[in-house]
Amino acid sequence: MDQRFGFIHYLYQKQTIKWICLFGIASAVLMTVHVQYSQPPIIRSFSFILSGAKPYDLKDSYSAFNGSVVTDQSTQNASSLTNLSTVDNEKPDMESLSVLSILQMNELLRKSHSARNSVPSHLLSRVDQQLLEAKSRILNANVTHNDMDLYAPIYRNISMFKRSYEIMEQMLKVYIYKDGEKPIFHDWILEGIYACEGWFLKLMEANKQFVTHDPNEAHLFYIPFSSRLLQQTLYVRHSHSRDNLIQFMKNHTEMLMTKYPFWNRTNGSDHFLAACHDWAPAETRGRLLNTIRALCNADIQTGFQIGKDVSLPTTYVQSATNPLKTVGGAPPSNRPTLAFFAGFMHGNVRPVLLSHWGNDTDMKIFSRLPHVKGNQNYIDYMKTSKFCICARGFAVHSPRVVESLFYNCVPVIISDNYVPPFFDVLNWESFAVFILEKEIPDLKRMLLSISHEKYVEMYERVKRVQEHFFWHSEPVKYDLFHMILHSVWYNRVFTSGF
Ligand SMILES: *[C@@H]1O[C@H](CO)[C@@H](O)[C@H](O)[C@H]1NC(C)=O
Ligand SMILES: *[C@@H]1O[C@H](CO)[C@@H](O)[C@H](O)[C@H]1NC(C)=O
Ligand SMILES: *[C@@H]1O[C@H](CO)[C@@H](O)[C@H](O)[C@H]1NC(C)=O
Ligand SMILES: *[C@@H]1O[C@H](CO)[C@@H](O)[C@H](O)[C@H]1NC(C)=O
Ligand SMILES: *[C@@H]1O[C@H](CO)[C@@H](O)[C@H](O)[C@H]1NC(C)=O
Ligand SMILES: *[C@@H]1O[C@H](CO)[C@@H](O)[C@H](O)[C@H]1NC(C)=O
Ligand SMILES: *[C@@H]1O[C@H](CO)[C@@H](O)[C@H](O)[C@H]1NC(C)=O
Ligand SMILES: *[C@@H]1O[C@H](CO)[C@@H](O)[C@H](O)[C@H]1NC(C)=O
Ligand SMILES: *[C@@H]1O[C@H](CO)[C@@H](O)[C@H](O)[C@H]1NC(C)=O
Repeated sequence: MDQRFGFIHYLYQKQTIKWICLFGIASAVLMTVHVQYSQPPIIRSFSFILSGAKPYDLKDSYSAFNGSVVTDQSTQNASSLTNLSTVDNEKPDMESLSVLSILQMNELLRKSHSARNSVPSHLLSRVDQQLLEAKSRILNANVTHNDMDLYAPIYRNISMFKRSYEIMEQMLKVYIYKDGEKPIFHDWILEGIYACEGWFLKLMEANKQFVTHDPNEAHLFYIPFSSRLLQQTLYVRHSHSRDNLIQFMKNHTEMLMTKYPFWNRTNGSDHFLAACHDWAPAETRGRLLNTIRALCNADIQTGFQIGKDVSLPTTYVQSATNPLKTVGGAPPSNRPTLAFFAGFMHGNVRPVLLSHWGNDTDMKIFSRLPHVKGNQNYIDYMKTSKFCICARGFAVHSPRVVESLFYNCVPVIISDNYVPPFFDVLNWESFAVFILEKEIPDLKRMLLSISHEKYVEMYERVKRVQEHFFWHSEPVKYDLFHMILHSVWYNRVFTSGF
């Protein structure tokens, strides 16, 4: 189906009003913030959003096409990467991109979650009524200031998070579709930079608390596919086309729609998936655009919808048996390097970073570090730098964000339109720095303007937020598995009843 048609089709769906509102806000924002590129092609911005897919985001991949597990670590040997610039002929249309600041993203979230229900309550099913009740209980949560387990400053609203999490534990039921064959469905890869989707899938299928075999009591329907295995299984090397992958997901979705009554009840908006590969935003367009998509490549420019979709962290797991091998780092007083970055010169942002700051003596900005065993030099820099730069590569997401948190290094995110993980509940600005790509020339001044007290405060918060990014083979409260499930639940609660 033509993507443009797909979008219009989508407009006629149940959630239309809310998304039209969001679109309106986004458009207004586009109008006002569109200044940094020379041409002002607002029209092209719209057509970009309308069409959803631009062939250029074929490029937004740092993966090898032939399936060898490739990481974006600084010390990786580039010869294992397919030359990505040959994937399609079209140059990225930089002029058509517009940038949302983190404040504008906050505003989108607020608007999205404060939209009113439009369905009269007598038309709601029992599970819908439960969701509405949950929403009301979350909005009227008892105000918590101090909590035994949770550290208030790192959340948008600790009272709401705590209440929502408790209700999830009491109430949430997830139905997992059994359809679909391995390896694309019901299978996982637990190592590498796309490991997040694999861990989630494996732990979800093994879960006893939330999984139900009775679809009638389900608040959420999970489509258990792996975007990484889809790419490994179906991408035809050198074909420069992922149309067959998109077609495959379309087929599968249409099968679910016709075989079961569940999809049509909400047009898919109580369905969800978790996908970490860079191509997942494209593979989950069309019908799947209605679902709650938990995506690592959480890029507003490729259709990520704040308030509905969930930003999945990109967790680089080196050893599936010991995913937390190295956590921790030097205290603030023992971090001599102001800021650190190392990595391939993927994309347009990193070369700019290097050309401005490659020779700076306070900041260590490298293209690649020489390869040493276990990436120890890279890890040592992260453990002894105050700030760690997470600059986008081909795609907006990077394993550096979670790595920074693990090594107690305050992340500096330079990746326009990237929605950081669990944006819906975490107060990212309290423990991370957001710098627009166009502000790179001002990077050092901006970092130096952060006082020592403020820095130490952010450092402490980084340490407190870590636990939400840990994988455990047996999930524990507030760990990464539960955070992903919670964010899907939370967004379902706030988007139900339309
Ligand atoms: C679901 O979406 C279709 C279009 O895709 C629309 O015709 C239909 O009315 C929607 N169903 C509900 C219940 O809103
Ligand atoms: C990268 O790999 C190629 C082929 O395996 C090898 O010839 C080259 O020396 C390697 N480069 C580095 C920097 O390790
Ligand atoms: C993957 O590609 C690399 C580099 O092109 C090549 O060395 C390797 O043999 C390929 N592996 C497979 C399984 O095709
Ligand atoms: C990658 O492909 C582009 C376009 O075909 C070419 O200009 C460039 O030299 C290639 N780079 C490498 C490292 O092969
Ligand atoms: C957090 O949410 C609760 C419940 O909606 C509300 O009463 C409280 O004012 C909020 N706190 C902050 C700091 O926004
Ligand atoms: C909220 O506060 C009220 C009054 O202090 C108390 O009665 C109630 O049990 C509290 N609810 C929860 C869920 O803590
Ligand atoms: C989609 O399904 C049709 C009919 O079931 C089949 O002919 C086609 O090969 C499938 N396409 C893909 C990409 O799986
Ligand atoms: C759901 O709606 C689609 C049309 O949008 C239709 O093809 C399909 O048969 C319906 N599913 C069921 C189970 O009725
Ligand atoms: C950095 O230093 C190298 C070697 O002295 C020089 O060639 C390069 O132009 C310098 N770059 C910048 C941005 O000053």
